[in-house]
Amino acid sequence: MMETGKTRAAAQGDREPVGSGSGTPVGEGAGKLWGGRFTKGTAPVVDAFHSSLGFDWRLYREDVRASQAHARMLAQCGVIAHGEAEAICAGLAGIAADIEAGKVQPSGAEDIHTFVERLLTERIGDAAKKLHTARSRNDQVATDTRLWVMNAIDELDRRLRSFQRTLVQLAEDHKDVVMPGYTHLQRAQPILLAHHLLAYFEMFQRDRERLADCRKRTAVSPLGAGALAGVTQPIDRWATARELGFLDVAVNSIDAVSDRDFIIELVAALSLVMMHLSRLCEEVILWCSAEFGFLELDDAYSTGSSIMPQKKNPDIAELARGKTGRVYGHLMGLLTVMKGLPLAYNKDMQEDKEALFDAVDTVLGCLEAVEPMLATAGVRADRMLAATKDGYLNATDLADYLAKKGLPFRDAHAVVGQAVLHAIENGKRLEELPLEVLKGFSPLIEEDVYAALDVRQCVAARRSLGGTALAEVEKGLARAKSLLGAAEK
Ligand code: ARG
Repeated sequence: MMETGKTRAAAQGDREPVGSGSGTPVGEGAGKLWGGRFTKGTAPVVDAFHSSLGFDWRLYREDVRASQAHARMLAQCGVIAHGEAEAICAGLAGIAADIEAGKVQPSGAEDIHTFVERLLTERIGDAAKKLHTARSRNDQVATDTRLWVMNAIDELDRRLRSFQRTLVQLAEDHKDVVMPGYTHLQRAQPILLAHHLLAYFEMFQRDRERLADCRKRTAVSPLGAGALAGVTQPIDRWATARELGFLDVAVNSIDAVSDRDFIIELVAALSLVMMHLSRLCEEVILWCSAEFGFLELDDAYSTGSSIMPQKKNPDIAELARGKTGRVYGHLMGLLTVMKGLPLAYNKDMQEDKEALFDAVDTVLGCLEAVEPMLATAGVRADRMLAATKDGYLNATDLADYLAKKGLPFRDAHAVVGQAVLHAIENGKRLEELPLEVLKGFSPLIEEDVYAALDVRQCVAARRSLGGTALAEVEKGLARAKSLLGAAEK
């Protein structure tokens, strides 16, 4: 326990020096906001243990904005004087600017809300003491966190869109590249690389839709719910909601302060982003191996070995794959924190922030590193094409050829199975078997079979909606570009 306390205190110490513009330290000596009914100060271990300032300082912009909106609304509703609201708003603007500029570093307080209010009181005096009228830290923290999440979703969407743009560019640049498509990691049927890349575009498109959906439920203002039961002053909850960019107001004050679904939803959506990114990275890692040799990463996005001079490792892709576990872990952590909490606010909920911040940071960081890694990677089209030649990837096409000539597909499947077995035993490809040999498996086979067995023809023949034929892939590209274009408007 002592160790934990020391570590946390030391971590906060990193954020010194502390101070207001006037140079007055903002420390524990300034007293607790809630100290009135207490006869003594908290034990140092308690301060260290329950303080969230070491991480929730990141909410300072949202805290200031929400407080400004609250103060303005209080003045409009006649709860405080206009002059007081103006002094509060100006003071808060100064605090945000000073934190932004690094002139003030939040520390020595219980949390960012306490810190800002205390500093404001030091700077503007009595008017600051009216800011917390008709408000509780419970609706305040929920408001700040929602604003932070709304902003984070906007940023995540920008990043994902940019990532999608890179996928589209790669697909566009390699439109005629043929590669093996896999099932069970066994070569299955030839496909276009562009088709494969666009599969990831679709995954990230769904991720963006999920984030947009989550944003709708996040953009609901809890401000004005008070501690849990609402407030006694004649406030206007819609005024603050509108000013802060919320789309709605929470209609139940108890739910407003207890709900952390929006964070869990976000981290769930981010878990899916990471799952998709991790699958892509896994393929990059495989494709960079000598065994595949499909991809060559740029030196700027690879690393070496301290002992083996020849090594060139896909560390970026591996790290992104590895960091997926962190985001999943945060999701499980958050669900577990919330599962047993009686209504309404409980301090357990303070545990939401580190998970939230780290999940968002991790996803943004991974997207930021993996995108240029992909954009600069060299595609080894020759190796991809060569890999489609061995492994009987055109066997389905031979069965389809027979089925089109009237043989029931199940029978055609059996016939081709025999032909494949024969070819394997003789160390030949299907298209290397002479016509007489092929005819031996089915009299329906004629000279035109060789055209049907050509790898490019196998690709071109898959013209069904969403298939790998170029015309269909072009449609996928067009759809992708229009989605990206629409998002930019
Ligand atoms: N730091 C707290 C949190 O993140 C702020 C809310 C505190 N409210 C309270 N009643 N203690 O949850």
